[in-house]
Amino acid sequence: MDAFRLDDRVALVTGASSGLGVRFARALHGAGATVVLTARRADRLESLAAELGERVAVVPADLTDAGAREDLVRSAIGVAGSLDVLVNNAGYGEPIAAEVEPLEQVELTLAVNVTAPYHLCQLAARHMLERGRGSIVNIASIFGMVGSAPLKEASYCVSKGAIVNMTRQLGCEWSRRGVRVNAIAPGWFPTEMTQASMFDEESGRTYIQRNTPIGRAGELHELDGPLLFLASDASSYVTGEVLAVDGGWLAR
Ligand SMILES: NC(=O)c1ccc[n+]([C@@H]2O[C@H](COP(=O)([O-])OP(=O)(O)OC[C@H]3O[C@@H](n4cnc5c(N)ncnc54)[C@H](OP(=O)(O)O)[C@@H]3O)[C@@H](O)[C@H]2O)c1
Repeated sequence: MDAFRLDDRVALVTGASSGLGVRFARALHGAGATVVLTARRADRLESLAAELGERVAVVPADLTDAGAREDLVRSAIGVAGSLDVLVNNAGYGEPIAAEVEPLEQVELTLAVNVTAPYHLCQLAARHMLERGRGSIVNIASIFGMVGSAPLKEASYCVSKGAIVNMTRQLGCEWSRRGVRVNAIAPGWFPTEMTQASMFDEESGRTYIQRNTPIGRAGELHELDGPLLFLASDASSYVTGEVLAVDGGWLAR
């Protein structure tokens, strides 16, 4: 089981102020990593850092800002000494019919879900390639592999499809120099992103239950194993892979 440990590794987790990101930070920290937490809501990051105690740093950033992304990676390497793992988890999406979706919303979705993770992959990889070691885990979605119909989330589907193929290409491009890139495609998990539109509604809960072969939504802890596998040396021969953690949604 030692291959799953992350002692002496530094992991940067985006979107660490809520939902999956909080869980990912706790899991990586629990496996021994020093974690660098980022998101816009600094108060949330500080609370999580206080809970984790040691081996943690907070670097708030708005990931739609290219300069902020550069400062983030520079600061992470500066405060923690290196960067071994990047978890591109921050995400955005609002359900709306495609034909009436304001262009500003499309652009914001692509900025947070595609441009920011791509740029962070570049910035992290420059450092990782120099050291010959690194693991990047992108958080995609089942809606990067199939459409969301009857739910109307077209720009979100576009963005998650992009991160899936980004993962495949970068996973191949950097693998001979020690940097692996993989993705997790979660199914339905209760977070701020999904609470109001799905979990608070009886129809939403029923929809998830009926359409997920395992018969229920995921629980956040069920992402720990997949994340630690992809982040650590346990997956040393895995790159460009998209691991669905979806209760069978994509297997139907
Ligand atoms: N929940 C699910 O069922 C599910 C399913 C499939 C995929 N996912 C993916 O999982 C990831 C995490 O989502 P979640 O469900 O945990 O949603 P969430 O609770 O809404 O978390 C989204 C995170 O992204 C951060 N973020 C958003 N815009 C940002 C920006 N401009 N700059 C910096 N950070 C920003 C938010 O932090 P601040 O607001 O503090 O900046 C927050 O920490 C996303 O990529 C999502 O697409 C979730």
